[in-house]
Amino acid sequence: MELNIEKLPVHVTLIMDGNGRWATLRGRERVFGHAEGVESVRAVTTAAARWGIKYISFFAFSEENWNRPAAEVETLMGLMCEAMNKELPTFMENNIRFRVLGDLSRLSEDLRDSVEQTCRATDGNDGLTMILFLSYSGKWDILQAAERMAHDLIGNPGLRVDAALFGNYLVTAGIPDPDLLIRTSGEKRISNYMLWQTAYTEYVFTDTLWPDFREAEFRAALEEYSRRDRRFGKV
Ligand code: IPE
Ligand code: IPE
Ligand code: MG
Repeated sequence: MELNIEKLPVHVTLIMDGNGRWATLRGRERVFGHAEGVESVRAVTTAAARWGIKYISFFAFSEENWNRPAAEVETLMGLMCEAMNKELPTFMENNIRFRVLGDLSRLSEDLRDSVEQTCRATDGNDGLTMILFLSYSGKWDILQAAERMAHDLIGNPGLRVDAALFGNYLVTAGIPDPDLLIRTSGEKRISNYMLWQTAYTEYVFTDTLWPDFREAEFRAALEEYSRRDRRFGKV
């Protein structure tokens, strides 16, 4: 399907929510929903590449998600490891550069290896950049940035602190702030996601559960975005 939208966002980010409920509705284990959710990630990412979007990012696992039952966390990590290895050909065919952002020190060595390999293999691609936020939280990001900036300020007290300087310490340094944030499953909250970077982001909330969010739903969200008037405080 082609897309005929004039005002496309540069960076779209998605809070993928509702996998567990999707599975429960079908009388299945929650992990079944996570597996089906991977298909949605592929559908949305390949559509974004086709439509010429420059950045697509996904909130895959929050810092708070570490508090879920160990079995679910383990399955989720396994799924991500598997998907990263399996999807390498998709990334290469679609000229996608893959990146992972978050507190990677909390990941298993196996997963860290997969992350590193897939990122390195796709580093030369210059089409769509796809970012997975893994073991990430907005407050964690701001804190780690503040800590590193404070350290540099001690060595260079003349440094002028402004939003641009601070942004260079966030894990998203060099990545444009999201223009559009989509959250699925009917929840209307940000759940400690990119707090600093979403200052002027447009929000689209949909009741669709993540495993049902595919190309048609993505297109509808982009159409909704194209009708928004972004004023950035001006008139
Ligand atoms: C989103 O689906 C996936 C993650 C947060 C890892 P959920 O697992 O949160 O599904 P629900 O919200 O319980 O339905
Ligand atoms: C948000 O989903 C985090 C991710 C999608 C990774 P949650 O399901 O964890 O959010 P809450 O707990 O409902 O706010
Ligand atoms: Mg949820």
